[in-house]
Amino acid sequence: MYKIALVGATGLVGQTMLHLLDQKNIPFFSLTLFSSARSAGKRVAFKGETYIVEELTEEKAKSDFDYVLMSAGGEISLHFAPLFEKAGAVVIDNSSAWRMDDSIDLIVPEVNKPTLKRKIIANPNCSTIQSVIPLKPLADAFGLKRVAYTTYQSVSGSGWKGIEDLDRGEKGEAPENYPKPIYHNVIPQIDVFLEDGYTKEEQKMIKETQKILKDASIDVTATCVRVPVPHAHAVAMNITLKQEPTVAELKAVLGDFPSIIVMDDPSREVYPTPLDAAHKEGVFVGRIRKDNSLPNTYHLWSVSDNILKGSALNAVQILEELISRKDD
Ligand SMILES: NC(=O)c1ccc[n+]([C@@H]2O[C@H](COP(=O)([O-])OP(=O)(O)OC[C@H]3O[C@@H](n4cnc5c(N)ncnc54)[C@H](OP(=O)(O)O)[C@@H]3O)[C@@H](O)[C@H]2O)c1
Repeated sequence: MYKIALVGATGLVGQTMLHLLDQKNIPFFSLTLFSSARSAGKRVAFKGETYIVEELTEEKAKSDFDYVLMSAGGEISLHFAPLFEKAGAVVIDNSSAWRMDDSIDLIVPEVNKPTLKRKIIANPNCSTIQSVIPLKPLADAFGLKRVAYTTYQSVSGSGWKGIEDLDRGEKGEAPENYPKPIYHNVIPQIDVFLEDGYTKEEQKMIKETQKILKDASIDVTATCVRVPVPHAHAVAMNITLKQEPTVAELKAVLGDFPSIIVMDDPSREVYPTPLDAAHKEGVFVGRIRKDNSLPNTYHLWSVSDNILKGSALNAVQILEELISRKDD
């Protein structure tokens, strides 16, 4: 039985993690819910009990926890994760703050395992998670040379603020979160622009893919786009392999890998869409075909719920992995 804390418990990811702790029957002795001062005092029902959300303070971060699940943004993670770690907890963090630190594990449980060099584990970017899951078995079976991503990312990827901006647009109001209206529109900008013209979201996908697959020689590029969809991200992937398998061989390898659901039958117009993947676990793949313009190159379309496998579920699966090690 563990002492567990949830930071960002009132957020989209935090609330989903709470639901998953219940659904997956994570054994806990105590559960502490943290938010900012804005939501402190809110009551949350969980497993028949009422929990009061507390404001996170430095003092409380020095309390005795076994595991801390954080989803409250990068600044909060940078400041508070080391305090929790120093007090003895293992922190699983959903923000981008720690992901590219060499001493920090960046984990997708189907793909790589925590080394626990530090007791902070980073959850990757949502679009990266649903991309590296199909890439891993292809890289192992056929060798991976290059991948080009184009994403179609739902507004829930920005938390409550994104959903509220889509609602505002539907009512004819101006956006408050996105730089342009998202209703009746698509926005080819996620996060801030960097000097080379890429956005930070695109840079995250590029660097995180190489780190998770432990291969800096893989060429990766990305264009990240926000679309007016409430839930589930889609990623169009153009993949160059070292070998030239048939499409049937590709599908067989993908279908054997954990968490992948192959939905691909052009003769019946079968392929995954965000509505198919929303509120479901797993990574749905389809539109798998040879790219006729280049050797050894294939197209693949990956769709997954960004709040589930893209964040909360992946974090809870990391927790399950750590707990199973303790039980061994
Ligand atoms: N949404 C996604 O698809 C997704 C995917 C991957 C990673 N993430 C990451 O997960 C994190 C949370 O995202 P979200 O979508 O759940 O956002 P959200 O819905 O806006 O929730 C943010 C949460 O952070 C809390 N918070 C804000 N300031 C705080 C502070 N000073 N101290 C303690 N808690 C504070 C908020 O509490 P209040 O209620 O008090 O404001 C709220 O619970 C972010 O780092 C995000 O990048 C999100």
